[in-house]
Amino acid sequence: MERLNSKKKIAVFISGRGSNLKNLIRHSKTKRSLFKITLVLSNKSNAKGLRFAKTNKIKNYIYERKLALFEKEALKLIKKNKINIICLAGFMRILSPMFLKKIKIPVINIHPSLLPRLKGLDTHSRAIKAKHKYTGCTVHYVNNDLDSGEIIIQKKIKIFKRDNPQSLSLRVLKLEHEAYIEALEKII
Ligand code: GRF
Repeated sequence: MERLNSKKKIAVFISGRGSNLKNLIRHSKTKRSLFKITLVLSNKSNAKGLRFAKTNKIKNYIYERKLALFEKEALKLIKKNKINIICLAGFMRILSPMFLKKIKIPVINIHPSLLPRLKGLDTHSRAIKAKHKYTGCTVHYVNNDLDSGEIIIQKKIKIFKRDNPQSLSLRVLKLEHEAYIEALEKII
């Protein structure tokens, strides 16, 4: 019981598929998990990932319209649910400096490249085009500059000649799932 209560409470922000969310939920159910997923917020009502929150009976909310409204409601929910860490997982909005200033807990993000290389979107096709030998993923703190906060963990893989953006994204996604859990364990 003691251990259960001492688990850190996580809120996950999503916009789409939710495979990272799914994996975080799966891990959170293991005995050795240091965290539990308490809240899921989406800025898209059609985000596929919402179903993982629903089937696992995790409180979930959708604020689809203005970012300002999303942030206002998020601040309230974070406080009310005594959340310790926010994890962005495929959340396709840039949080405002005001939100990041007001929120007094760590906000972390997962990005599918070896930052500071390839900030932004379409990282896998850009990595192939630029003939990079390696790529991977990064979990980092979120600050006011896109994909630029302090790095918590990185995982690296080789890019093969036969790779295309799809094959690469599948292989990197596997790494992302491991990296997010390791990053959380590192900062908790
Ligand atoms: C991941 O590749 C993540 O690195 C990026 O968006 C994607 C989200 O995937 N920020 P999913 O929704 O977790 O499946």
